[in-house]
Amino acid sequence: MIKASAKADLERLDVKATTVKTINRLYKDSLRARRTSYSPYSKFAVGAALNLQKSRGLKSYLGCNIENSSYGATVCAERVAIWKALSENPGAKVDVLVVVTDTKPAASPCGICRQVLLEFANPRTLLCQASLNGVERIFSVAELLPGPFDGSQLPAP
Ligand code: THU
Repeated sequence: MIKASAKADLERLDVKATTVKTINRLYKDSLRARRTSYSPYSKFAVGAALNLQKSRGLKSYLGCNIENSSYGATVCAERVAIWKALSENPGAKVDVLVVVTDTKPAASPCGICRQVLLEFANPRTLLCQASLNGVERIFSVAELLPGPFDGSQLPAP
């Protein structure tokens, strides 16, 4: 379900009707993914769901945050979904990623996840921030991480 607060985002990003359907489906998937969150330390359960680009059959992958007693070993839901997708589909790009939290407003992805998503995104990749009430905001990767450091800046080996 896409909330009224995201309607302006749909227009700004010129999101097509088929992609709106995909976002709605991924939103439901992200709620399901959130239920398997392993977050005994923060008690902050996060769910993520993504689909890959059309040429990869729009395959979907789910993720949840998985914490660790050594806090730094914790991995966010977004990265779990991305690792799952990329480990089975080398070279693929993420088309849409939905992340859901039980907060108001819906949580914004951390810097590490933005950088990781950029690596496996195309210019039109969408990141949808959702609460338990629906998708609240939608951003393109370019909006999420302006002036990024990417592989093109590394000298040829
Ligand atoms: N977390 C995510 O899974 N995604 C985010 O975008 C923000 C933070 C997780 C990591 C940790 O398990 C908990 O939320 C608190 O930071």
